[in-house]
Amino acid sequence: MKKLGVLGTGMVGTTIANKLLELGYEVMMGSRTASNDKQKAWILNKGDKAHIGTFDQAAAFGELLFYCVKGDTAVQIAKSLTPSNIKGKTIIDISNPLDFSKGMPPFLAPALTNTNSLGEELQKVMSEAHLVKSLNIVSSTIMVSEYKPGDSPTMFISGNNADAKQETMHLLKAFGWKDIIDLGDITTARGTEMLLPLWVRTMQTLGHPNFAFTVSR
Ligand SMILES: NC(=O)c1ccc[n+]([C@@H]2O[C@H](COP(=O)([O-])OP(=O)(O)OC[C@H]3O[C@@H](n4cnc5c(N)ncnc54)[C@H](OP(=O)(O)O)[C@@H]3O)[C@@H](O)[C@H]2O)c1
Repeated sequence: MKKLGVLGTGMVGTTIANKLLELGYEVMMGSRTASNDKQKAWILNKGDKAHIGTFDQAAAFGELLFYCVKGDTAVQIAKSLTPSNIKGKTIIDISNPLDFSKGMPPFLAPALTNTNSLGEELQKVMSEAHLVKSLNIVSSTIMVSEYKPGDSPTMFISGNNADAKQETMHLLKAFGWKDIIDLGDITTARGTEMLLPLWVRTMQTLGHPNFAFTVSR
């Protein structure tokens, strides 16, 4: 696998896209408009392995995709993708169903929590693809960096397809994660998404986002 698509131009999309280039992949970063200011800034001096396009173009380009879009628009963007562009592909979903409409701290969208999750909704909408929820429980600042706080913090994966989870594990290891727990099918994304209220409050208390959860056992 050589070509990867990154849907999202925020801190997460940029962080993942940079790391994938560093690892030698060819990368297309997708947005709503194909060449917004963040994409233009990202692609500067990146060489011929970096590309920009729309969300759908990035989906078509990548043999595996990272899904890094704003939580409250994630389902809408997923619905806009051409089914044949994502068919059979692994999609690593980093998005969170956070609602910032009332400011900080954000809350979890009620329809996407407890008895549901954004991961499950995205898997339903992108039924041709194999969704794996992961990386959503840490800040972009430590997602792919060699430095990981603590001895060996834990990363979780949730998804229905065993091969897609193997591909995800491989990339997580390349991102420096050593302790990876496969929680099971995509319904287990409820657990990791519901860590976000705790994550946000920990961040507010510590005053920085450079921490991670460890499952001691
Ligand atoms: N920031 C972190 O450290 C972190 C850590 C873990 C998980 N996450 C999750 O990862 C996702 C991405 O986070 P982020 O901080 O990188 O950036 P973000 O601002 O949450 O999302 C940026 C992306 O969302 C798209 N977007 C924004 N508003 C939109 C709208 N109204 N309609 C359609 N698309 C819209 C943007 O499209 P354009 O490119 O067209 O502008 C952009 O590609 C979020 O779900 C977040 O909860 C973030």
